Amino acid sequence: MTDWTTVAATDELQPGDRKAVFVDDEPVLLVRIDDDYFCVADVCTHDGQPLGDGPIADRQITCTRHGARFDLTTGDALCMPATEPIAVYSVRTDDGQIQVKTNEVENTAEAETSTPSAPAAGQPAESDDGVSSETETEGDAEPEVAENDGASAMLEALREVIDPELMINIVDLGLIYDIREEADDVVSVDMTLTSPACPAGPQLVQQSKMALERLEGVTEAQINLVMTPPWTPERMTDDARDQLGIF
Ligand code: FES
Repeated sequence: MTDWTTVAATDELQPGDRKAVFVDDEPVLLVRIDDDYFCVADVCTHDGQPLGDGPIADRQITCTRHGARFDLTTGDALCMPATEPIAVYSVRTDDGQIQVKTNEVENTAEAETSTPSAPAAGQPAESDDGVSSETETEGDAEPEVAENDGASAMLEALREVIDPELMINIVDLGLIYDIREEADDVVSVDMTLTSPACPAGPQLVQQSKMALERLEGVTEAQINLVMTPPWTPERMTDDARDQLGIF
């Protein structure tokens, strides 16, 4: 489609309102925040479910199914289990009508009012450049933890720690960056989170510490939460990907 399609009258949506419509047989979600309009594909990229009823805050919408969160301005997937962005569409107002264009997102030139900057539909999320070649893993590769019996036992113990949102253990999620023996009976673990704002962070840290300190020969486990390099979905094992429906 190259023409604008009218999807609502401007007085139909008050700040905070939203409207789910079909444009060219595509489900789209129109959202008004203050005086800005946003239009995105009404399909969660995790499992193809509608996003329309999800809570919206800080110009982000959260899928009610499994908690994935998307930026309404860029479409970026901000939170697991989604890893792919949602499409963002151009919006403009014209003579009291709100119009969208589903196959173009260069909305600055034609926009008359309230057109948030948006990337091309389907634009990939931010690159994964933050992961160094030393720590990046692919497919079902194990996290790069030193290979010895002690580390293996600790990894097995850490597999008992399950991310409560994703229901996958933290080892298969690729959250464990390093395990070190600091002294007799004292180990140190560098672990990360799928998102710096992950609400399960404190719980995962505490459970990791407890799981390790239950091991024979470990009296103290120090858990260091690190955000560098940032976690990316590439760190997950194939099993974890399968469970999340990521291919
Ligand atoms: S369908 Fe949206 S997070 Fe799973």
